[in-house]
Amino acid sequence: MSLLFKPWTNTAFRVALVALALALGGGVIAGPMLYVRSPLYTQQQDPIDQPVQFDHRHHVGDEGIDCRYCHFTVEKGPFAGIPPTSVCLNCHSQVWNKSPKLAPVRESFFADRPIVWNKVNKLPHFVYFNHSIHVAKGVGCVTCHGRIDQMAAVEKWAPLTMGWCLDCHREPERFLRPREEVVSMTWKAGGDKEQFALGARLKQEYDVHTRTNCTTCHR
Ligand code: HEC
Ligand code: HEC
Ligand code: HEC
Ligand code: HEC
Ligand code: HEC
Repeated sequence: MSLLFKPWTNTAFRVALVALALALGGGVIAGPMLYVRSPLYTQQQDPIDQPVQFDHRHHVGDEGIDCRYCHFTVEKGPFAGIPPTSVCLNCHSQVWNKSPKLAPVRESFFADRPIVWNKVNKLPHFVYFNHSIHVAKGVGCVTCHGRIDQMAAVEKWAPLTMGWCLDCHREPERFLRPREEVVSMTWKAGGDKEQFALGARLKQEYDVHTRTNCTTCHR
């Protein structure tokens, strides 16, 4: 039996459907606007190749190593930083010291050449950001980076758009946590009501301001 519809009609039908949906939904504007907000455009969840398959699940989840052991400038400076090879060798001169997966790490150490990791989270040059103030004022890593302890390879978790920053800067009490819990991946205040009450209290205690002036982030 010959095909009732030729294969191309299928495509034509889909195109027509999408065009219709766009026209009805005011999609001429909404389409592109939705696109710039979609993970596709903000490159969230894109897998990024790394020179070594470093897995946070083993190191943070199983071994329970504190984020600050490796990202040791996160409380003091603008950058959290990626640990130098010597930090890896603190353990890997002993454990898994024959693993082929760690060959580039040993090479880097003996040749005294840093491993070149690819950046996952990256703001444009005209934006000023500083880790230390966020950590000091009780904003947790998980609030901006997601469940790092469950990622085989780190993904960009938040969109890092201006709207996203401002969403918190306008009303930080929705996100603040006790300073002792900044690196915890699982801490929760309870429900929304508890978060708001605690957040409002911490906002006073830590002297947190709502900062929406352009010069906060563009200087
Ligand atoms: C044993 C060392 C170690 C520990 C502990 C560790 N990290 Fe990392 N982290 C790394 C290395 C190495 C990289 C770079 C490779 C990569 O992206 O996976 C990295 C990358 C990252 C990145 C992505 C950086 C970018 O390019 O944007 C984030 C975010 C991050 N770590 C957060 C955390 C958080 C949060 C914790 C604690 C829950 C943590 N890390 C614990 C070593 C560590
Ligand atoms: C505090 C100790 C410690 C530090 C520091 C550490 N690791 Fe590890 N790493 C481990 C342990 C323990 C394992 C085995 C975990 C498992 O299999 O559950 C491991 C496993 C690995 C593996 C997998 C090896 C294999 O053959 O499966 C890689 C790759 C690795 N680490 C890379 C790194 C890199 C890169 C750094 C530095 C940024 C680093 N590690 C720092 C303790 C550490
Ligand atoms: C308020 C949101 C926010 C919080 C909280 C936060 N980060 Fe980040 N992080 C970012 C942004 C934004 C970048 C990209 C910075 C850039 O490109 O200049 C980043 C980048 C990184 C990087 C890449 C290296 C660097 O310094 O640029 C690492 C590693 C990292 N963060 C780890 C952490 C850890 C560990 C914590 C918790 C102790 C943490 N971050 C808390 C937003 C945050
Ligand atoms: C989840 C909440 C949250 C998010 C998301 C967040 N911030 Fe903040 N930010 C804060 C808090 C809280 C402070 C401390 C405000 C204070 O008390 O001065 C702060 C302070 C700052 C400061 C320091 C202001 C100063 O005058 O020293 C800069 C710069 C900044 N944030 C930039 C950013 C940028 C850029 C982004 C987005 C990429 C961002 N923040 C996302 C909560 C957040
Ligand atoms: C809390 C931090 C923060 C504040 C406050 C802030 N911005 Fe931004 N802005 C960002 C970030 C992050 C980006 C880059 C990501 C993006 O384009 O959304 C950005 C991007 C921009 C861009 C470039 C947009 C583009 O499409 O490339 C302009 C223009 C801008 N901001 C203007 C302003 C003005 C004007 C104000 C004050 C009314 C302001 N910003 C306040 C964080 C901030």
